[in-house]
Amino acid sequence: MNMHVNTTKRILVSGGSGFLGSFLCESLLAEGHEVLCVDNFQTGSRRNIEHLTGHPRMEVMRHDVTVPLYVEVDEIWNLACPASPVHYQSDPVKTVKTSVMGAINLLGLARRTKSRIFQASTSEIYGDPKVHPQPEGYWGNVNTIGPRSCYDEGKRCAETLFFDYHRQYGVDFRMARIFNTYGPRMSENDGRVVSNFIVQALRGEALTLYGDGSQTRSFCYVDDLIAGFRALMASDQPEPEPVNLGNPGEFTIRELAETVIELTGSSTKLAFRPLPGDDPTQRKPDISRARETLNWEPKIALREGLQRTIAYFDDLLSGRGPQDQRGLINGVATEAPVPIAGLALRAQKEERRQV
Ligand SMILES: NC(=O)c1ccc[n+]([C@@H]2O[C@H](COP(=O)([O-])OP(=O)(O)OC[C@H]3O[C@@H](n4cnc5c(N)ncnc54)[C@H](O)[C@@H]3O)[C@@H](O)[C@H]2O)c1
Repeated sequence: MNMHVNTTKRILVSGGSGFLGSFLCESLLAEGHEVLCVDNFQTGSRRNIEHLTGHPRMEVMRHDVTVPLYVEVDEIWNLACPASPVHYQSDPVKTVKTSVMGAINLLGLARRTKSRIFQASTSEIYGDPKVHPQPEGYWGNVNTIGPRSCYDEGKRCAETLFFDYHRQYGVDFRMARIFNTYGPRMSENDGRVVSNFIVQALRGEALTLYGDGSQTRSFCYVDDLIAGFRALMASDQPEPEPVNLGNPGEFTIRELAETVIELTGSSTKLAFRPLPGDDPTQRKPDISRARETLNWEPKIALREGLQRTIAYFDDLLSGRGPQDQRGLINGVATEAPVPIAGLALRAQKEERRQV
């Protein structure tokens, strides 16, 4: 009798060329799976996945999830959706379509192929929370008609669709409510606070703070989040339930700015601007459910994560190209050779200062 059990799956990752999606594709490939990255490249970048494109188990398909997709797969991860306010507000109608029609199309695919499907939901579904920190049982303090509503309400509707496809058609899913996550491969111009501050500091520009910088956020490093994704997708849940994933360490935006200035060695200043509409004043996950059911919690401290992210942007902005994307995946060489090197950050900065 053949005792060999084939655990290799054909896995679709929508939004696979984005910031989080690219790390997820990498992690799935590393475990021996076949990965089909589906992306319309609205905010994702070929640069994020170019080190994976030559891999024999990696396939990239340009496709918009608002259109149905007919493929045979064993597992689906739905990450497609612009995540930064600059991007999702630039075409708000499209943002709603991506969240809602994308969910319908991928849930339909999951139903037909009997695949488990993962939904990348968001802490934004809690709105400007009146409960702090936010547990999954909190229904949120939300606004249906503000500038952020296309994203928040689109994601809320997607959550509803996941639960209804489960109740009505028995679709099996896992759902993460992701809190602010940062790391290499964030887009350098998408207005997210961590990448904004790092890019501004490395360029010697003033760091832009909205309001007085006293609003708080929690920042999760991408490696921790992907570990949480994988644990959640593999977990047994008697009935699917949303799970908060994020880092509960809470920092004011001003503290973040000051830490970035210190770690980059920049001598730049802070510039204060008026607070945009609907900007939540506090955001911090209650991760008790993830701790208890997944035995997961973030391990990477903010300073360490910032150092790694600064190294990435330093390489990118100095034209050396990101060096974290080089090496081996499961014994298969990816496009470029060497793993991440120590940065020549300080030397470079000295150079920059002298010009
Ligand atoms: N990064 C975070 O802090 C965070 C927090 C909460 C939720 N999320 C969610 O996680 C997911 C990934 O976020 P990210 O930070 O990697 O953002 P990202 O913008 O880097 O990635 C999103 C990806 O989806 C693709 N995409 C967008 N619309 C699409 C469409 N209609 N069809 C096909 N592809 C499409 C983009 O091109 C991009 O590659 C998103 O669903 C986002 O809402 C992220």
